[in-house]
Amino acid sequence: MSIYLDNAATSYPKPEEVYQAVMNAMREVGASPGRGGHRRSLEAGRIVFQAREAAAALFCAPDSSRFIFTHSATESLNMALRGTLLPGDHVITTSMEHNSLARPLHLLQRQGVELTVVQAGPDGRVDPVNIRRVLTPRTRMIAVGHVSNVSGTIQPIEALSAIAREAGALFLLDAAQSAGCVPIDVIGSGIDLMAVPGHKGLYGPQGTGLLYVAPHVALRPLLTGGTGTNSTSEEQPVTMPEGFEAGTHNLPGIAGLKAGIEFVMKQGVAAIADHERALVCAARERLQALAGVTLYGPSDPVLRAAVLSFTIAGKDSSWVAFELDQRFDIAVRAGLHCAPRAHRTLGTFPGGTVRVSPGWFTSLEDIAMLVNAVEKCL
Ligand code: ALA
Repeated sequence: MSIYLDNAATSYPKPEEVYQAVMNAMREVGASPGRGGHRRSLEAGRIVFQAREAAAALFCAPDSSRFIFTHSATESLNMALRGTLLPGDHVITTSMEHNSLARPLHLLQRQGVELTVVQAGPDGRVDPVNIRRVLTPRTRMIAVGHVSNVSGTIQPIEALSAIAREAGALFLLDAAQSAGCVPIDVIGSGIDLMAVPGHKGLYGPQGTGLLYVAPHVALRPLLTGGTGTNSTSEEQPVTMPEGFEAGTHNLPGIAGLKAGIEFVMKQGVAAIADHERALVCAARERLQALAGVTLYGPSDPVLRAAVLSFTIAGKDSSWVAFELDQRFDIAVRAGLHCAPRAHRTLGTFPGGTVRVSPGWFTSLEDIAMLVNAVEKCL
């Protein structure tokens, strides 16, 4: 029996409704929103609007027009960073970030943005005191990942956003591993910008994502082109959200994402979080009893989400993942997970770790099979 434990990369399987919605958008609707006045185009517009409304409801935002559809959380992060920062601005980030945040920041640094990378502790958690300590009068943004894609560590985002607010800086949250898996309230948590992938915890198709932009944030568009509005103007309209969605929408993807978000809301994010936490606790408990296995990230389940990394003494992490796949048909991800600094922080650079990431469709039996397979690899 095939076991899929790579939900941190892409959730699989998807709820049946998601497959149906993608198919329906392509086969029955067919047209694009805002690109015609006929009924197919209007139906496409309704789907896109309802998907935005679903996202706003999930993340407790009063105005769905503050959600921009993108192709990935990476695109959302690039839009958020390039759309707000200018040379001379100072940005604070952490040593746990994925390359989707670290690389655009590195590029901006070469273009004159000042960057401070605050070291997280050995369990991946960043101490807000260390963030406050590096504020300068030019600090324009604090940019952090909510949940580490390597260790599962949850960052104390309310404390970090409060520091940003006091300093007059923006708080950018990379919710790549938390959206749909950890409750998020953009207003309550003081989030100014939030990047969300569609294909992970929201159970949508690959090639979908969202950027949340709080009403007080003035964003410059990354892409210019057709928006289906203000067609006489040569200037890009900066009206939310269309001005930031130049080009034809990924309607099948957005329809699938809508179905995925509705599925998540039907289960409840808290119930998903509880289920995934129980799976990770079971995996931790059994794996740590095996001689030669080292686990990473916080041991307190409250401080972590459903991403679990481990190493086996004397064994290459890629070899372990290969064995799990080839001999036991268990899918995990090994290596550096596009987050080299996180591995340096955890002490697992350059070999990386074996990463197990369960999802809503993972069972305790799947975890038991994984642990048995790891035991055999030992
Ligand atoms: N960021 C994704 C992962 O961690 C792709 O696997």
